[in-house]
Amino acid sequence: MTQVDVPTAGFDPSHVDVRRDPYPHYHWLLRNDPVHRGANGIWFVTRYADVRAVLGDERFARAGIRDFWASIVGTGPLSGILTSTVLFQDEPEHTRLRSLIAGAFGPRAVRDLEQRIDSIVADLLTPALARGRMDVIDDFAYPLALTVISSILGLPQEDLARIRAWSLAIGPTLDLVASPEEIALGQTAMAEITEYLTGRTDGLLGELAPVLSHEEIVSMGVTLIFAGHETVTNQIGNGVLALVREPGQLALLRERPGLLPGAVEEVLRYDSAVQANSRQLTDDVELGGRTLRRGEFAVAVLGAANRDPAQFADPDRFDVTRTGVRPMSFGSGIRHCVGAVLARIELLAALRALVRLPGLELACSPDDLVYHRSTMFRGVLSLPVTFTAGT
Ligand code: HEM
Repeated sequence: MTQVDVPTAGFDPSHVDVRRDPYPHYHWLLRNDPVHRGANGIWFVTRYADVRAVLGDERFARAGIRDFWASIVGTGPLSGILTSTVLFQDEPEHTRLRSLIAGAFGPRAVRDLEQRIDSIVADLLTPALARGRMDVIDDFAYPLALTVISSILGLPQEDLARIRAWSLAIGPTLDLVASPEEIALGQTAMAEITEYLTGRTDGLLGELAPVLSHEEIVSMGVTLIFAGHETVTNQIGNGVLALVREPGQLALLRERPGLLPGAVEEVLRYDSAVQANSRQLTDDVELGGRTLRRGEFAVAVLGAANRDPAQFADPDRFDVTRTGVRPMSFGSGIRHCVGAVLARIELLAALRALVRLPGLELACSPDDLVYHRSTMFRGVLSLPVTFTAGT
């Protein structure tokens, strides 16, 4: 692993070098300044135990993030809708909204989807099998993840391309470093998707209609579309990339499919699709020998916690035979990812099918891969691979 020094001005997750490969930077922080005051005075918390403490402590709250975000995006459809998302609420609003959807993503509901997910995987791979090449993101991961979440929400298959385009336009505005151009595109997309999601009667959105306001329904729909497919798409991409860069690990999974559930956890740990969760302090808090003051912002760096040597032996080694891995990738505490069970089932189905492709390898140089311009989410825009055709 390359060695880097975090600049004296502080860690900046939006720096191009960090976005490309954040891990050497995380190691600097873990080693030298695990509760670090970064650029713009934001605190970055990197140790596994500290990240868990932050995410389990209600003094690290979300409502302030909503208000800061709203001040960046200004008035318009984005703040009109997304200020009511479950992602931005503190108690008791947070639990009121979360409890309305938790059952639909609980183990029993999701287990019923397993066969359907396997058949979506098979359908998506059929055309690629004949060609011997595909873009893992566009041809496989995104249609898989979006088909699954859309069918739960009750949205028709023929609308997926439109939904994807709206989601791609809205996603960057959730990042606290969105540009004015990104915000303008997000406003247009939010106006369009609001109209589209209004008056839905099918699926989960139809079930929620009697108990939520119009804004809350649209907000929940947009949240679940985005959280439910951008994450899984990126995580499949990050996982396949790790595997094609370590052909020995890929071969192990082919020979010993029993390792696949553990490999899902390792893929999540090694290169998480969600790298960070932001909070604002509602009180002064002591953490790691530092005093974080009321009103300041703090970022729990999940991607760094996942590489903390105090938690994981030899953390930079991608090793699908690890056991007992508990990645921080789904967060922790009362906001632990609602979709974690579903995400794991999708990841398992995807990896099981993809590792079977003989001769699977990257069809470009790793240096040519382009990452999303986000400080929170991590994934490549496109991941071309080849394999032996006709298998
Ligand atoms: C690999 C895929 C995924 C990853 C890495 C991931 C990660 C996360 C993380 C880190 C959080 C906590 C946010 C925080 O503490 O501020 C979260 C929350 C959430 N996730 Fe996921 N997620 C994934 C897939 C999904 C899926 C498939 C859904 C679909 C239902 C989903 C829906 C949600 C929702 C609604 C929340 C908010 C929970 C709350 O605030 O109580 N996620 N996710």
